[in-house]
Amino acid sequence: MGAGENDSEEQVLIFLAEGAGEFVSGEAMSGKLGLSRAAVWKHINGLREKGYRIDAVPARGYRLVEIPDRLTALEVGPLLGTRELGRTIHHLESIGSTSDLAKQLAAAGAEHGEVVIAEQQTAGRGRRGRAWTSAPGKNVTLSVILRPELEPARTPELTLVASVAICEAVRHAGVEAKIKWPNDLVVNGRKLAGILTEMVSEPERVQWVVLGIGVNVNVQEQDFPSELRGLATSLRIERGMPAPRALFTAALLGRLEDWLDRHHAEGFEPIRRAWSARSATLGQDVRIETGGKTFEGKAEEIDPSGALWVRCGAERVRVVAGDVEHLRERAPR
Ligand code: BTN
Repeated sequence: MGAGENDSEEQVLIFLAEGAGEFVSGEAMSGKLGLSRAAVWKHINGLREKGYRIDAVPARGYRLVEIPDRLTALEVGPLLGTRELGRTIHHLESIGSTSDLAKQLAAAGAEHGEVVIAEQQTAGRGRRGRAWTSAPGKNVTLSVILRPELEPARTPELTLVASVAICEAVRHAGVEAKIKWPNDLVVNGRKLAGILTEMVSEPERVQWVVLGIGVNVNVQEQDFPSELRGLATSLRIERGMPAPRALFTAALLGRLEDWLDRHHAEGFEPIRRAWSARSATLGQDVRIETGGKTFEGKAEEIDPSGALWVRCGAERVRVVAGDVEHLRERAPR
């Protein structure tokens, strides 16, 4: 299928999606889209072959009943309310790591907001050299290319922006997640999502940032490798029912764009406040591992650069990177 054919198929899908489950007439569709009735019919069948369920009733027209559980531009695009994020989606059935491809694309000149999404990652990467495992076709694993107007020293702020945005999208999907410093999304101490931020900068200017985001969406307990059982969770486990991945992805990109706009317009302070209000870490007794050292204390606050301040007796320690273990859950402040 050529690029133009693909575009018309997407136009037909958007038209159907805008019908919000109601019938739309084939005549209106061919008039508005400048396609013959035969071409509309061909695209309807093309969509059906991809797993879209579309009712066709004489004299009433077409009605979109169900979309396939996939994350191509066809599924996610019509649901997006963003200006830039996700307007170009590179979708892959399987890849080593979406962030590796996003970094290559960014280095080759990809634009701000381009997104790489994979149904399966064979070498997904987590923070601090760890692996990120994700069952094929059940979760959201994506990487967003950003070209922020930001001094390089401020890029760690973007990870906190992303964690606030993911937290909101997850809560909108009905799960009360919190943020574990610096950027894990947790529910009752079990990990739901993680963020890996990578960048290339010049001394004064960031060239690009790749935000790699992994969210456990529809995996069930038995899908996790044995070492993660009890430590990880998913939207499905928490909600007791599956979540539509395309809708969740569109919501996630929407919240991310909103919070990036806010960060751009107002700086880090609103992000710091939003992050603190959703934090699972502040007020907790924690064990911190940073720079090869481990110490314990009480997590007190996030400072204007996103670093965590921990009280250890009479001393206060500023932590810029590392791992946090919550020693016991306390009532939120
Ligand atoms: C962490 O919590 O350690 C970060 C996990 C980040 C995982 C995502 S999945 C999409 C993107 N591609 C990767 O290889 N990693 C990130």
